[in-house]
Amino acid sequence: MDDLILATTNQGKFKEIKELLAGQFTSFHSLLDFKNGYEVVEDQPSYAENAWKKARKIGDRFNIDTLADDSGLEVDALNGRPGIYSSRYGKTDAERIDRLLAELDGVEEQNRGAVFKAYLAFYMPVEGRGYFFYGSIRGCIGRERKGRGGFGFDPVFFIPELGKSMAELTVEEKNRISHRGRALAAFSHFLKRGLQAPPNR
Ligand code: IMP
Repeated sequence: MDDLILATTNQGKFKEIKELLAGQFTSFHSLLDFKNGYEVVEDQPSYAENAWKKARKIGDRFNIDTLADDSGLEVDALNGRPGIYSSRYGKTDAERIDRLLAELDGVEEQNRGAVFKAYLAFYMPVEGRGYFFYGSIRGCIGRERKGRGGFGFDPVFFIPELGKSMAELTVEEKNRISHRGRALAAFSHFLKRGLQAPPNR
């Protein structure tokens, strides 16, 4: 087993990823473990390219296997916005949610559908190779916040089948169904079995 750098400063993402990959790496490092200056600018035109840029830069800098996540929320009624700009939709999680609720003000229940997408890039600097893993989950945007778990848009992202917001789930419950959890399950399977299709596909 080896070390893994998770190329993020987002504590919520770090917690979820560490939880799901526990036991598969000796230790996990986030960018918060290093001195300032290692945050990579997300200026690429797609999630996958942003994730790849982060994984490459950090992996090459430290010469350690690196996993980067780029994710976002795409809202049907906003033609897929905020999408790759999700983290720049406001300065704080609270501001981002307020803006989203304001933009959806007056939008009917049936038109509040949304999808969370996560792209993971795994880069191995010694081998000079990388792999991508993808996951998504559909839900809908509520009219007010519910729950205190998770991060980002979780308090207003509802999963109709569960009758709960993503912020009402424990980390384990969220990881079982979320976009990031699904991408991580594919990554975890890849670590154990290599590039075979998972058994349930
Ligand atoms: P990134 O750092 O560019 O990947 O930003 C992702 C942004 O998308 C976050 O700041 C959140 O606003 C949103 N986001 C991504 N994944 C999640 C999630 O699991 N829950 C809630 N919001 C998320």
